[in-house]
Amino acid sequence: MSYHIGVISGDGIGPEVVAEAKKVLDTVADKYGHEFEYEDILMGGCSIDATGEPLTDHAIAQALASDAILMGSIGGNTQTSPWYQLPADKRPEAGLLKLRKSLNLFANMRPAFLYNELREACPLRDSVIGDGFDMVIMRELTGGLYFGERSTEEVDGVLLATDTLTYSEPEIRRIAIKAFEIARKRRKKVTSVDKANVLDSSRLWRGMVEEVAADYPDVSYEHMLVDNCAMQLVRNPGQFDVILTENMFGDILSDEASMVTGSLGMLASASMNDTKFGLYEPSGGSAPDIAGKGIANPIATILSAALMLRYSFDLDEEAKAIENAVQKFLEDGYRTIDIMPHGEEEAAKVTQVGTKEAGDLICERI
Ligand code: IPM
Ligand code: MN
Repeated sequence: MSYHIGVISGDGIGPEVVAEAKKVLDTVADKYGHEFEYEDILMGGCSIDATGEPLTDHAIAQALASDAILMGSIGGNTQTSPWYQLPADKRPEAGLLKLRKSLNLFANMRPAFLYNELREACPLRDSVIGDGFDMVIMRELTGGLYFGERSTEEVDGVLLATDTLTYSEPEIRRIAIKAFEIARKRRKKVTSVDKANVLDSSRLWRGMVEEVAADYPDVSYEHMLVDNCAMQLVRNPGQFDVILTENMFGDILSDEASMVTGSLGMLASASMNDTKFGLYEPSGGSAPDIAGKGIANPIATILSAALMLRYSFDLDEEAKAIENAVQKFLEDGYRTIDIMPHGEEEAAKVTQVGTKEAGDLICERI
């Protein structure tokens, strides 16, 4: 089969890690007799530099015409990059938000799990890690504070900034359904995270989650307040299977969840709508501090490509081949710098490799 993949390399380490994911996809194509065609799409800082806009209408049209999108990362250093001198709606992140909205990518799935090989890189104590952990964060991606009305105005000589948090019943229902569906294929537990002791939007959230839960009697569920959840993630991460939450809480909790696994560089993510289309990107950001150094971990992007094969193209065997190759790479003792063990003695037992070498070694194992 032939597939048309839109490629958003973006900024920072984006182009470096995307190059390795394409190499892996090409290896899969050769082995399994597929054809992956790539079309570059500009978004983020690189698009601002080239066109003055973080996402042009042309780029949106290209995205809509693709079977799926593979993305690296966008944005730069918010304190030093000239991109952040621009008005908010002209900055790199505005491009990503516009793309999510234009493609109706309301469901963002971010798996966070601990590889046994990487226990040494996990910042949690052994007694907290226990038997390890394996969770998925299902984050609502096109509503809430990110897309509410906002303004900054002067009232009686004082600047006043407002952001609004709105959720409708259908918006909550459709993301809750995604969470319960995925839980059904896993350990059958949903933790819905909100701030229902304060926010109206959270109280509506709870009510809708309960309605949806009634259709999934085989899946257990609980409600948890977001502050408690932030604490539980470092206290006992093993308790979570599927975390269902709104946009802003999901943004924060998914960074936390990925960090407790020991590396942001290992975790893939998928943003989906109600069709087979999806946008696949690493959970981590553009890491401008290490861009161009050839040391970024390409695994999250490579695993995102695997998710693309599985969810958008129904190529399960091929997806599994990529995931197994990554597993083998780790078992064979290769590590990028971000997942090196902390202790000297442990570090001596593994081989540190750069971005390209990691990509090559993973391709060899497909
Ligand atoms: C993410 C990122 C984005 C977000 C930024 C870049 C707008 O942090 O995908 O988590 O906040 O959603
Ligand atoms: Mn984020």
